[in-house]
Amino acid sequence: MIAFREVHKTYKMGETRVEALRGVSATIAPRRMVAIMGPSGSGKSTMLHLAGCLDTPTAGQITYNDRDLGSLSSRERAGFRAVTVGFVFQKFNLVPNLTALRNVELPLLLRGESASLVRKKALDALAQVELTDRGHHRPTKLSGGEQQRVAIARSLVNDPEFILADEPTGNLDTDTGQRIMGILHQLVEAGKSVVVVTHNPEIAEDADELIVLRDGQVVPEMAARGNGGRT
Ligand SMILES: Nc1ncnc2c1ncn2[C@@H]1O[C@H](COP(=O)(O)OP(=O)(O)O)[C@@H](O)[C@H]1O
Ligand SMILES: [Mg+2]
Repeated sequence: MIAFREVHKTYKMGETRVEALRGVSATIAPRRMVAIMGPSGSGKSTMLHLAGCLDTPTAGQITYNDRDLGSLSSRERAGFRAVTVGFVFQKFNLVPNLTALRNVELPLLLRGESASLVRKKALDALAQVELTDRGHHRPTKLSGGEQQRVAIARSLVNDPEFILADEPTGNLDTDTGQRIMGILHQLVEAGKSVVVVTHNPEIAEDADELIVLRDGQVVPEMAARGNGGRT
């Protein structure tokens, strides 16, 4: 479980300060699909980056299984990012001159595992997103949905506990987006925890938990669901 306790994040740009998160308390439970919703600029990506140890809070505490992420050394933080979480982004962020298979292998190659084991794990990950037959294609030869499936395979290849996805369907048409969400739901059934930032109310409705942000703060659940508190 990842828990936020009174987390603040302030970005400083010269003289300007942006309070991206203002006292966020929330939990990301294991084996759940957690949706984070909120208007543009409400702090969704900031929250995801903090959960994945890509950045550190200005104040407050973030724990992973009761361990304070703020107490980790930079080496331990890198380990957390490499092993415990996997990231998926709206724009896929694949390396254009590498094949799909190579893109998926990349996180493992950075860990110095043997070539044969790396290949096996990457093929397994591609199979999980139903892309076994597309491994030798470069991203430009793949559709948007296929590219996002490659990105999901890449996020899975280290077998992380959490998949953190920032608007993973934001660049996709409705049907393709639904397929991507179907894959993410399958991962939850297989035991992963998935956090998905989204603007899509249907995705939020299908999630097990919903966190709604507004101006860097969590909106209370009843108001957020806007349906008298039905969950
Ligand atoms: N690296 C940064 N430097 C300065 N301001 C930032 C940075 N990242 C985000 N912000 C600001 O913090 C606020 C929240 O941003 P973000 O978490 O990206 O929101 P969302 O993902 O909900 O659109 C916005 O006002 C944004 O401009
Ligand atoms: Mg964002």
